[in-house]
Amino acid sequence: MQNKEIILPSFAKTNLLLKVENERADGYHDLITLFQTISLADELRFQTSSELELACDDPSIPTDDSNLIIKAAKNLRDKFGVSSGANIFLKKRIPSPGGLGGGSSNAAVTLLALAKLWEIDVQLSDLVSIASELGSDVPFFLFGGTALGTGRGTEVEPVTDFYSDKIIIVDPAVAVSTAKIFKEFKGVGLTKAASDTILSNCRFNAAQVGTLAFEFENDLENVAFGLFPQIQEAKLFLREMGAVSSLMSGSGACVFGIFDNEESRQAALKALGEKTNWRSFAVTAITRERYREALQEVLL
Ligand code: C5P
Repeated sequence: MQNKEIILPSFAKTNLLLKVENERADGYHDLITLFQTISLADELRFQTSSELELACDDPSIPTDDSNLIIKAAKNLRDKFGVSSGANIFLKKRIPSPGGLGGGSSNAAVTLLALAKLWEIDVQLSDLVSIASELGSDVPFFLFGGTALGTGRGTEVEPVTDFYSDKIIIVDPAVAVSTAKIFKEFKGVGLTKAASDTILSNCRFNAAQVGTLAFEFENDLENVAFGLFPQIQEAKLFLREMGAVSSLMSGSGACVFGIFDNEESRQAALKALGEKTNWRSFAVTAITRERYREALQEVLL
């Protein structure tokens, strides 16, 4: 095998919609969610090596077997009987934890990159199945853009792209546990008719999310706001600063706001910098086409 190096962005996601359908016998929840990749990204570098090693520029990120990057690499290696390793370097930019899928994105990009580096003859369906074992959000990052997620979130169906180039992500700097948020969730669930309506709205109107077809909604907000009032404060702050919509991402703690003009977005960024110690990021949506371009070297 030749010495090779692959350098790739690992984009974050947000959830434009997150509805909890019901609790399942396995303890997970069935969801209907609309995933969206955004321009906030980590960078991953992969080099051929005999050992499997991970390093990261952020000392708070574990680089041992608990990191999803190592889990993804080992899982792929075991499933395809590969004996090579890889030297992996992660430049961390996505807040973690934050509900932005940073670890899940890293895992999916690792599967794609190592399949290429190790010259494995892999099918997308093989990677989807490994990705689902790694975590509920991982399969989505094999597709990117705007996609409907059902079941645990692992059944991914690309839909018409949503787009905005005027988004702010705010990190209210609290560490939220996804498992705890789902455990405390006590919603009534969705009827079959309600689920069907949401699904068809997502399939046909995703491009207009938040403007025409339906409002942004995240069923996990109430639980998260109860545990961490800062998350709700961040949401309200974005609305007060002129965001046409703002919503918690995934199980939190990050919140996104969508603006309809650049002046108010800039004013909001300035006010956030002056009035809070929260980190904020000016981002755009990443469409499926843009996602495919950025990862074209490895995407299946
Ligand atoms: O799949 P993942 O490891 O990201 O999930 C973390 C935790 O979040 C799970 O252990 C489960 O408690 C909860 N979860 C859930 N239903 C989902 C996704 C996650 O209950 N659809």
